[in-house]
Amino acid sequence: MIDLCLLNCKIVGNNEYSIGINNGKIISIKRNTIQAEKTIDIKGKIVLPGLIDAHVHMRDPGFTYKEDFSSGTAAAAAGGFTTVLDMPNTKPQTNTVKTFKNKIRIGENKCLVDFGLHAGADNPEQIKKLAPLKPSSFKIFMDLFDDNFLMNIFNILSNLEKINDNKTVISLHAEDKEIVNQYTNIMKSKNSDPIAYVNARPALAEEVAVSKAIEIAKKLDLNIHICHVSTKKSLNLIKKAKLDGYNITSEVTPHHLFLDSSYFEKFGTFTKTNPPLRTKLSKINIMDIYKTDIIGTDHAPHTITEKEKNIWDAPPGIPGLETILPLLLTEINRGNFTFNEILRLLCKNPAHIFNIKNKGFIQEGMDADFVIVDMKKEGIINPEKFHSKAHYSPFDGFKVKGMPIMTILRGNIVMDQGKILEDHGKYVYC
Ligand code: DOR
Ligand code: ZN
Ligand code: ZN
Repeated sequence: MIDLCLLNCKIVGNNEYSIGINNGKIISIKRNTIQAEKTIDIKGKIVLPGLIDAHVHMRDPGFTYKEDFSSGTAAAAAGGFTTVLDMPNTKPQTNTVKTFKNKIRIGENKCLVDFGLHAGADNPEQIKKLAPLKPSSFKIFMDLFDDNFLMNIFNILSNLEKINDNKTVISLHAEDKEIVNQYTNIMKSKNSDPIAYVNARPALAEEVAVSKAIEIAKKLDLNIHICHVSTKKSLNLIKKAKLDGYNITSEVTPHHLFLDSSYFEKFGTFTKTNPPLRTKLSKINIMDIYKTDIIGTDHAPHTITEKEKNIWDAPPGIPGLETILPLLLTEINRGNFTFNEILRLLCKNPAHIFNIKNKGFIQEGMDADFVIVDMKKEGIINPEKFHSKAHYSPFDGFKVKGMPIMTILRGNIVMDQGKILEDHGKYVYC
C-alpha cells in the first residue's frame, strides 16, 4: 500500500482530486479515493505546489543571531514554502568550494524544507571550481564592484557556460556602484531623516545597472536574472530585452510591489532595504505583475537593535517569508490577482529558471510538496508571531483574508495550522 492519500484536493483550474503519494513523490492523481496507509481529508480546500523562494538570506553561518537555517526554514514552512534558495552574503561568504560545501552541510543538518544555494561570483579563481557543486546561480552585487571587475567576472562566467552542460545563471543585484556612492554621499551630508534613503539610492542607479546588464545579456549570451526590480522603467527595459529574444529574467519582491516610499514615515528604518522603496509614481505595482518572471521575497532578516540605528547605519532588509502568501491570497479575494499567477511566479518559473527538477508542479513523478490554503481564514499580520528571528515588518497590522494552513514537504507535514513539525530538508541539486 502507498504512504499517503490527500483526499478532496481542489487543484487550480480543475475539480477535486485525490493525490497519492509514495516515498515522497506524487504517484497518482485521481478523481476517486486512493488506498493508502494514511489519508488526510483536505475537504475541498485549494492545494498548490509547495512555493519556491529563489531569494532568501538565511544568515547561516556567521550571522545566526539574525536568522539561521532552522528559524529561517521554519518561517518558510509557515509561509507555504517548501524550497528556498539562499544568498551567498554570509560569513564566510559562499564564494569558495570550501565554504559552499560547508554551507550544504549546515543546511542539511538544520533545514526543515529543501534548499539550494547561490554562489558568490566575486572570487574569480573559484568560479570554475564552484560550478560542479551546482549553485542555483552565481550572484553578483553590482553596487559593490566597478565595471572592469564586473566585466571580467561576466567573461569568466560566459566561458564557463560553454564548457558546462547545465546552463549557468547569473543573479544580479542591479544598482550602479558609482551612482549609489555619489548620491549617498550627497544625502548623508545633508539629511538624517529616513526618507533621505530613497534619494541616496535613486531609481537611476537601478535603471543604469539594468541597462548595463541587458548589454551583457546581448553580448555574452548568458542567462541573466535581475533580482528585486523596483521601478516600472527597469521592468519595462527587461521585458523588452526579453521580447527581443535575450536570455534575461526578472524578480519582484512583495515590499516593492505593495509598498511605496511613504512607508518610511510610518516604519522608519524598518522599511530600509536595497534597492529602496520607490515613490508611488515610479514603483511597480500589482498591475505590472504579468511583466515579471518570479516573485522572490528577498527575506533579509536583521535584529530590532540593528534596525533601530539611524538611517545610514541600520542594515537594509525586510523579512518576507511569512507574509507574501497571505498578501497575495488577499489580492485574489479582492479580485486583483489569480492562482495561476501564484503558480507561475512562485512555483513553475523559479523551478525552471534555477534548474530545480521535480518541483514546482502537481504532476505524477514530482516531489510531493504542497501548500494548502484556506481562502476564508482572516488575520492581521503580526511580526511578534513570526517563526523568523526577525520580529518586524512594514506589513505589520495589514488585514489579510486567505492563509496557508498546511505545508507538506515530500509527503511529510512540516506546518499544520501554524504549528511547525520538524523534518529534514535536502539540498535540491543532489
Ligand atoms: O535589502 C537588502 N538586504 N538588500 C540586499 O541586497 C542585501 C540584503 C541583506 O543581505 O540584508
Ligand atoms: Zn540584493
Ligand atoms: Zn537579497
